[in-house]
Amino acid sequence: MTASRDIVVIVGSLRKESFNRKLALAAIDIAPPSLKLSIVEIGDLPMYNQDFEGPAVPATFTAFRDRVRRADGVLFFTPEYNRSVPGVVKNAIDVGSRPYGSNAWNAKPCAVISVSTGALGAFGANHHLRQSLVAVNMPTLQQPEAYIGGAEKLFDAQGKLIDSGTRDFLGKILQAFATWAERNAVT
Ligand code: FNR
Repeated sequence: MTASRDIVVIVGSLRKESFNRKLALAAIDIAPPSLKLSIVEIGDLPMYNQDFEGPAVPATFTAFRDRVRRADGVLFFTPEYNRSVPGVVKNAIDVGSRPYGSNAWNAKPCAVISVSTGALGAFGANHHLRQSLVAVNMPTLQQPEAYIGGAEKLFDAQGKLIDSGTRDFLGKILQAFATWAERNAVT
């Protein structure tokens, strides 16, 4: 049997009751045994500034880059802010991508799951994120696409995913991603 793959989960919302985080936690619960999912926090990363590179690089940048570099793949859960990704997601991408020539994201298989209260399931953010994922050279799962809308109806008061259709769909995405991560394994 193949060992479990170490998958970094990036949650693109910092608020306590984030639906993206709730869905990410549900994914951790139901992921197949071949995937070990861990949320890596991005809220404490300073805004990227190229002047930080060099001896005074923030410890948070180094820790984040090292954690991503160790991973076998990445799962992004992102909301949509004004038809794009929240700034924290873009900042995390930028931090991980530098210094030039040392891109921690390079070649890591990934998938994007976008979650919104709106009807379009954060389609715009999902596809804006994909544009950056091309730049950082991450093979990105194409199908099934994951746009989760109406997020406020999917969870109970404790934050548990109670919508069985979404649970089944999430399971399918994770299975597809497990195959994708194996096919595009870096190590
Ligand atoms: C939003 N929201 C939103 N939704 C959407 O579908 N398209 C959009 O362009 C936007 N724009 C937007 C901007 C800003 C600044 C905020 C705060 C919100 C609504 C958003 O989808 C909703 O708040 C989600 O619940 C955010 O995800 P979390 O925090 O629940 O994970």
